Amino acid sequence: MKIKLKSHNCGELTAKNIGDEVTLSGWVSTVRDLGGIIFVELRDRTGFFQLVADPQINPDVHAVFSKVKTESVINIKGKVTMRPEETYNDKLPTGEVETYPTYVQVLSEAKTLPFVLDDENVSEDVRLKYRYLDLRRENMLHNLKLRHKIVTAVRNYLNEQDFIEVETPILIKTTPEGARDYLVPSRVQEGKFYALPQSPQIFKQLLMVGGFERYYQIAKCFRDEDLRADRQPEFTQIDMEMSFVDQDNVIEMTEGVVKAAFKEAGIEVKPPFKRITWQEAMDKYGSDKPDTRFGLELFDIGDIIMESNFEIVKNALKAGGIVRGIKIEGGAKYSRKDIDEITKLAVSYGAKALANIIYSEDGTAKSPVLKFVTDEQAKAIQERAQAKPGDIIFFVADKPKLVYDVMGRLRLHFGKTLNLINKDDNALLWVVDFPMFEWSDEENRYMAMHHPFTSPNMEDMDKLESGDLGHVKSIAYDIVYNGTELGGGSVRIHSPEVQKKVFKALGLTEAEAAEKFGFLVNALQYGTPPHAGLAIGLDRLVALLCRTESIRDVIAFPKNSGAKDLMSDAPGEASLQQLRELHLKSTVKPH
Ligand code: AMO
Ligand code: AMP
Repeated sequence: MKIKLKSHNCGELTAKNIGDEVTLSGWVSTVRDLGGIIFVELRDRTGFFQLVADPQINPDVHAVFSKVKTESVINIKGKVTMRPEETYNDKLPTGEVETYPTYVQVLSEAKTLPFVLDDENVSEDVRLKYRYLDLRRENMLHNLKLRHKIVTAVRNYLNEQDFIEVETPILIKTTPEGARDYLVPSRVQEGKFYALPQSPQIFKQLLMVGGFERYYQIAKCFRDEDLRADRQPEFTQIDMEMSFVDQDNVIEMTEGVVKAAFKEAGIEVKPPFKRITWQEAMDKYGSDKPDTRFGLELFDIGDIIMESNFEIVKNALKAGGIVRGIKIEGGAKYSRKDIDEITKLAVSYGAKALANIIYSEDGTAKSPVLKFVTDEQAKAIQERAQAKPGDIIFFVADKPKLVYDVMGRLRLHFGKTLNLINKDDNALLWVVDFPMFEWSDEENRYMAMHHPFTSPNMEDMDKLESGDLGHVKSIAYDIVYNGTELGGGSVRIHSPEVQKKVFKALGLTEAEAAEKFGFLVNALQYGTPPHAGLAIGLDRLVALLCRTESIRDVIAFPKNSGAKDLMSDAPGEASLQQLRELHLKSTVKPH
């Protein structure tokens, strides 16, 4: 295709092009006036190319360059020439060549930019307000290019495996992924609302009922939840579902997807990835998304404490609690102040107290808790912790959820602050055998740990029926990368009876279940293949492969932590007329 404004890309011109007449277009990245001769660095998405204007050689171009503002868009024509050898720039692929344009046209003059593109100190809010300028930065282009390459590789992989990409609706009823829904009021159905999908979960299951067997979608999902660096209100999933498969099949397929995605980032990973049970993950790492790039495994000293006179901790254990400890090598040298800081940190994570025992270099143990334990018990604890003289241990006793959370976070804190994490590691693993239900103090009932369409482990059906919900396991699995949950999925319930039992266990009356998910239960009655699937968080995957902390860096137009689009100023106000049409009344006064 012949394009009038551009015969070549800036970043691709090399000594091979010497003598070529080229037409280039792009942005004026820098202008340097060196005693009459002006050098302009022209930029397009492929890179940089040097333009030179000399009043003796190309005076018309020189006149334009002497006034041109950086970031203006220009078009030039010229012949590619070799630079004088002493001016080679070996940082640029085009560093040996340049042109003295014979023609220049300013296609669009730029105002002075609100910030210098490469200034590291510009706040993210300013960057987001002018995202279209921020996108001109090399690393934004790099990130979004890698995202594109990953999506292409994933699509190619799944297409080869006979998957069909199907779009599912955005205006739907609701999907119970555990977050709050975004609601869209209906104009034509007065008083009724659509929800935006938290995921395509129900639709992909219905595609299996519909006989599609292998579905995927690069799917937009919407969740109204508190935002963090790895959470956006709208995000993208690589969403998959398969029929006639079990957990192993989904895991194997996902490993193929992950391998293809990592390859685009130049990382070779070797499936099968390690699998650990949810219980093991919690016991060793205090987390269902363990970062296994470092050790610092937790240990249990409950049995030893139960023999002791440590009543306060014994009482916690008797009330269904657990105790877990962590050993820090060389920690005996911590000062009183250091230990106070660590204790404060544990308290900020929710602990009521953090106990410690110092195993001094001289072989003695020091701790306020030693008054409750015998020398033998202190020795047994030391052995369990595999602590040597010079080490310190910390432990917490409380309800399991709290202990896991506090100790898991403390472990990560030590991993980071003691520089135990090898940044070049690629620790991919599966966490399997999740509990089916999780007790919610807030709601005062059991909630689905994954979602209510997840199959219970068939061996635990009697517990489901007898109401022993805390001990029912599910056939759910998560894939974890360097301590981040990349994706999760499950084998689904394909029997309407089991589905009804699970709704009941979740405290839904038959009428509520029918109102909310009746169409799914109905569908299951007409011949449903056993099916299973998984969804990978695409933004998280790309962010991790771009080695950036925030998924905002891999989304072209993200929201800030207040769920606002600072560029377009969304969400915005609606006019009274719009509200009236939607049968809504605002309780907020219009400005
Ligand atoms: P789940 O809710 O675990 O499963 O989501 C799957 C993956 O999506 C990513 N993710 C997010 N990424 C960015 N911002 C968010 N707010 C956000 N929330 C989730 C995570 C997560 O692992 N329907 C099921 C999947 C299934 O069962 O097949 C589901 O959505 O990386
Ligand atoms: P004292 O307050 O001196 O009787 O000692 C209580 C000790 O027990 C302190 O060292 C506390 O850190 C420790 N302790 C109290 N409650 C817990 C708990 N839930 N988990 C771990 N240690 C605890």
